[in-house]
Amino acid sequence: MQSKPNRSFESEFEKDVYEGLTRYPKRLYSRYIYDEKGDKLFQKIMAMPSYYLTDTELGILEEHKTAIAEHFKSLGEAFELYELGAGDGKKTKILLREFVEQGLPFTYRPIDISAHVLQVLQKAVIAEIPEVHMDPIQGTYFNTLREIKHQSDRAKVVLFLGSNIGNLLHPQAVEFLRELKDCLGPKDMLFIGFDQKKDPQTILEAYDDKEGITAAFNKNLLHRINAELGGNFEIDAFRHWESYDPETGTARSFLVTESPQKIEIEALDLQVELDAWETIHTEISQKYDQKTIEWLCEQAT
Ligand code: AVJ
Repeated sequence: MQSKPNRSFESEFEKDVYEGLTRYPKRLYSRYIYDEKGDKLFQKIMAMPSYYLTDTELGILEEHKTAIAEHFKSLGEAFELYELGAGDGKKTKILLREFVEQGLPFTYRPIDISAHVLQVLQKAVIAEIPEVHMDPIQGTYFNTLREIKHQSDRAKVVLFLGSNIGNLLHPQAVEFLRELKDCLGPKDMLFIGFDQKKDPQTILEAYDDKEGITAAFNKNLLHRINAELGGNFEIDAFRHWESYDPETGTARSFLVTESPQKIEIEALDLQVELDAWETIHTEISQKYDQKTIEWLCEQAT
């Protein structure tokens, strides 16, 4: 293992990869899975019957859309509907349709780091629900929300669906909710999806499909390092491993190498060794119970 003091990095990706691979145990962040290929693999995951999250949330929105719309109507004024990580907008469209039908005055403002994602989403919404007034914003969640806080005094509703918050450990989730709260005023609302604790077997199967889609999704991190940073991971030597702790509700994904590897990453001027069966932790997908959700909200106020 080698390390250089005061090294400088060209991107957050480079820095996080460097830090993640020079610590023990090794770790990479799941947010870097999502390039074009990663996005496609996640679409495939959402279509898997074992990945219950998507259909469950769709069902909840479908069942409760009238009540949800009425709740936002109680703001009593036009509002801006922000969405953090809208993806293909499949779920959001259920709400958008209902809001249009109930005549709610709103502007749909999805926030995403990827301009491409926003374009695709906008096209779809315009084609399917042309009544929606849409004004997407390209940027990071908090920079954007902070700016908006000062620009607009319209009421805000923030959507954060898909249990995306589950990628954060509790302390980070609290931090996230606190920051979000700082971007919102007293009348504004947050609508957030939490995946609940359930049969541990169901959870394991959602994150470890037989077809290997989740494995490919997880390994896309290594593909990106090889392609973008000049790495030489022998990707086929890694197994995708999922664990779920029913006590804490934490599902964790790992890449485990079957054989020792000498890794060189050109762009980082880095050499690291992996022993046989050494792990790289890549993702957490936290599951919640009602008490924990309430605790999180309390911590964030
Ligand atoms: C997009 C973060 C909600 O953790 O369930 C799916 C990502 N990882 N399968 C999740 C994911 C493996 C997903 N989130």
